[in-house]
Amino acid sequence: MCGIVGYVGEPGSSERQYYALDVVLEGLRRLEYRGYDSAGVAVVADHRIGNRKKAGKVAALDAELEANPLPNAVLGIGHTRWATHGGPTDANAHPHVVDHGRLAVVHNGIIENFSELRSELGGKGYDFVSETDTEVAATLLADYYNNDADHDLSVAMRMTCQRLEGAFTLLAVHEEHEDRIVAARRNSPLVIGLGENENFLGSDVSGFIDYTKQAVEMGNDQMVTITAQDFEITDFEGNPAEGKPFEVKWDATQAEKGGFSSFMDKEIHDQPAAVRDTLLGRLDEKGRLTLDELHIDESVLRSVDKIVVIACGTAAYAGHVARYAIEHWCRIPTEVELAHEFRYRDPIVTEKTLVVALSQSGETMDTLMAIRHAREQGAKVIAICNTNGSSIPRESDASLYTHAGPEIAVASTKAFLAQITAAYLLGLYLAQLRGNMYSDEVIEILDELQKMPEKVQEVIDNEKQVQDLGTQMSDASSVLFLGRHVGFPVALEGALKLKEIAYIHAEGFAAGELKHGPIALIEEGQPVFVIVPSPRGRDSLHAKVVSNIQEIRARGAITIVIAEEGDEDVKQYANHIIYVPQAPSLMQPLLATVPLQVFACALAGAKGYDVDQPRNLAKSVTVE
Ligand code: F6R
Repeated sequence: MCGIVGYVGEPGSSERQYYALDVVLEGLRRLEYRGYDSAGVAVVADHRIGNRKKAGKVAALDAELEANPLPNAVLGIGHTRWATHGGPTDANAHPHVVDHGRLAVVHNGIIENFSELRSELGGKGYDFVSETDTEVAATLLADYYNNDADHDLSVAMRMTCQRLEGAFTLLAVHEEHEDRIVAARRNSPLVIGLGENENFLGSDVSGFIDYTKQAVEMGNDQMVTITAQDFEITDFEGNPAEGKPFEVKWDATQAEKGGFSSFMDKEIHDQPAAVRDTLLGRLDEKGRLTLDELHIDESVLRSVDKIVVIACGTAAYAGHVARYAIEHWCRIPTEVELAHEFRYRDPIVTEKTLVVALSQSGETMDTLMAIRHAREQGAKVIAICNTNGSSIPRESDASLYTHAGPEIAVASTKAFLAQITAAYLLGLYLAQLRGNMYSDEVIEILDELQKMPEKVQEVIDNEKQVQDLGTQMSDASSVLFLGRHVGFPVALEGALKLKEIAYIHAEGFAAGELKHGPIALIEEGQPVFVIVPSPRGRDSLHAKVVSNIQEIRARGAITIVIAEEGDEDVKQYANHIIYVPQAPSLMQPLLATVPLQVFACALAGAKGYDVDQPRNLAKSVTVE
């Protein structure tokens, strides 16, 4: 959840126009979406550690640094926090500087055995000034360091990691080693960035994207020592390990607002490109679907007898949408399960189970733990992920990347559409492979998918109507969302967006469920969004949903209807009608979701909330 940055430049280099603090602060601003309760930095100059930290956002740290500047240095670490142990106070902010100001540590994750270690260290006479598990890890590191005859920080880090239980990324700097950062990771992200006579560390590449696109992925339970010229990866026993180099495909401007009022607004507008780019390169010259990156034996995929989609939050709703398509196309029983529930209920998973893990960040701990559990039972895991080099694809048997580009706003938007697109590609691929569909049927659906970016753009082009509605309804205290079939997960996603960023009570229901309970909630003036299926097609649910609208209208609801262009019948029952382009039923979520995102963004904006960094949330949930 927290964001971590580290920088080592060349000592004495006069050519460079920046110092460690500039790099670290820039990285923290870019990583702030990961957590924004407090922020802090530490630099090492003239064999002394200088550190500043502040509760609040990076801007509060900037103000602190302005009032109390730090010296120019070529070695620095920084942290932006999402509180786990101990509230968001100055004292609990990172870095934690211990051992009489000689050692500074930043940490992401949770150290599960921290109270045991705290008592042990307390017994040795160490005092603690914060309530954090991090201070305990830092003190343990100091203890090993001081007891190591060679005062080798890497050795001390190795010993420390062997004692820690839980999840952690740790970065440490010591006043006696002005040329290096020693870092370690277990079940928590860390990427190395390679520059010329300078090297970087970041929770993800956005921590150093302004400076380099050359990065190295580290494995789990590994540590690295970086200097300006070099980096050395080992495991926790000290055995050398190889990193996996990769090049970052996006640039810093993609992680900037580009004239939009918020990242969320920008990312809503990025959606046509997110869908288009996710489809790119997946067709061969004959227009057939090829998923070259899916390195799983075809015979294994042919023998799959059950698919389990595992994800959390918005990604899970994308999974629910995908389930309708995958079951329909592949005729394979498909379940969707929240990752944190899956693992703890002794699920039936065999070698014939295909687990599909959906994750934007690739670091969601619940999802990571669930895929580990599934693989232990012999299942094959395919990750659908937006973040290259992250843990979930790395620990899966194969990966299908969504190409949505960096998603910075905490509330997921473009990743949702990209996840649906990628999951559809996977469904079509399996159907083609297993002979459930003829290739011309697959090509027909792919053609429809190729038309979606343009249609998503049309929805965005009409956003003004929805924005006005969001602004007008900023006083609403509760909003309900109804949908059927693929419209049901869209309703759930619409409600989640509103809860997350506008702090309004919102619920999504399957429209068919209305009479089984939720209709009791309807009273005069209750706003209800209804996602109406297409009136075209033989098995249309259109008439049933229109009846639902009449039922709630009769009880005083204000109906905001999302319907397909040309659906004139439904208009008479709508207080507000938002038309989206015509598309096959299974494609509708890619269109109907967009007005719901725009509505939530506009309403939260009208309330004066920070839509990019809603309270209590963090972008990447790297603790269970
Ligand atoms: C909601 C949201 C979250 C994430 C969930 C999973 O807007 O962003 O519900 O979808 O935390 O995150 P990833 O996809 O990174 O695994």
